[in-house]
Amino acid sequence: MYKIFETVDEVSRYTAQRLLDKIKALPAAALGLATGSTMEPVYAQLLQYLQQSPVDLSKLTTFNLDEYIGLSAEHPQSYNYYMYQHLFNKLNIPAQNVHLPDGLTTDIETACQTYSNAIQALGGLDLQLLGIGSNGHIGFNEPLTCFNSRTHVVELSEQTRIDNGRFFTDQSEVPTHALTLGIQDILEAKEIILVATGNNKAEIMAQLFTSAIDETLPASALKQHPNFTIVLDREAAALLP
Ligand code: F6R
Repeated sequence: MYKIFETVDEVSRYTAQRLLDKIKALPAAALGLATGSTMEPVYAQLLQYLQQSPVDLSKLTTFNLDEYIGLSAEHPQSYNYYMYQHLFNKLNIPAQNVHLPDGLTTDIETACQTYSNAIQALGGLDLQLLGIGSNGHIGFNEPLTCFNSRTHVVELSEQTRIDNGRFFTDQSEVPTHALTLGIQDILEAKEIILVATGNNKAEIMAQLFTSAIDETLPASALKQHPNFTIVLDREAAALLP
């Protein structure tokens, strides 16, 4: 299903409301969360809704999609840091229920397996929130990632490192590798919402709209999902056929 709104504000209100509805309907939900610029207004809106009308979050569990390898949770560009800044420091989710890949893990293989297993042990994610890279990545699953992948290490593409360079003082500081939930883990979520806003997502959204389900475009895997919503602002939808 496609939902197209005029503004980022409307996109954020709709998406935050979907998250809130899920939490209200299923207080022990397992939510899959994303980072990035797209999610900042979504999380700000969710916080606003929760401030206006508090909801018990004591049973909620969250799993973040990805983390840069080599960045500690205290590094301002780490996704751990982002999540605490934008959401977790302001919400009462029990610390043991918050899961993020550890960018400093020394036993990567075990860490990856443990992460996917923990999600499966909860019966899969109830709702997965996604952004999309300008090259079609979801999580950090770059083009040509197997659709049956589980949590794994990826080498970031040049495009992704350039796109994300805006968050770092120098392009050379952008990590080369990351840990990410696999595409299979994402597809097993019961419900998926992909959010794309701004001109720089218009081209990839047009490609996604017309493309076959193919590993060259990771987000195309989502087209086979029975409960998948794409939420766009007018700019990101500008090139849709
Ligand atoms: C972030 C993530 C990425 C981003 C994507 C878009 O956790 O998984 O797939 O969603 O790179 O990033 P923004 O929103 O910054 O354009």
